[in-house]
Amino acid sequence: MIGRLNHVAIAVPDLGAASDLYRGTLGASVGPPQDEPDHGVTVVFIELPNTKIELLTPLGTDSPIAGFLAKNPSGGIHHICYEVDDIIAARDQLLANGARVLGSGEPKIGAHKKPVLFLHPKDFNGTLIELEQT
Ligand code: CO
Repeated sequence: MIGRLNHVAIAVPDLGAASDLYRGTLGASVGPPQDEPDHGVTVVFIELPNTKIELLTPLGTDSPIAGFLAKNPSGGIHHICYEVDDIIAARDQLLANGARVLGSGEPKIGAHKKPVLFLHPKDFNGTLIELEQT
């Protein structure tokens, strides 16, 4: 069902500092910040030859990553994103196998303007998984 690794997301307390770190120290190609109000985050994408890194920082007062950063004040790996061909078929197969989909269970439009869903980390070895339809 899952295909390519689309991105690894890292929650950061300071998006500018993290962008500078990737651009300067790691010599990566760092995109501009994008506000994602539907997801309560501001994101920066870093293009690598084989995948992307998504830097995330809270946007607004009830960001879903605020609690994560409270527990991990210097930041940390927040989720990984796998590509799927058909997100509804993938969701239905996961639900039939007992996995939990976060939120309403309906896909939201993600940072790449494509439908995404998140899966409960307790069902996947402590890893928050994002599925993106490509
Ligand atoms: Co993501």
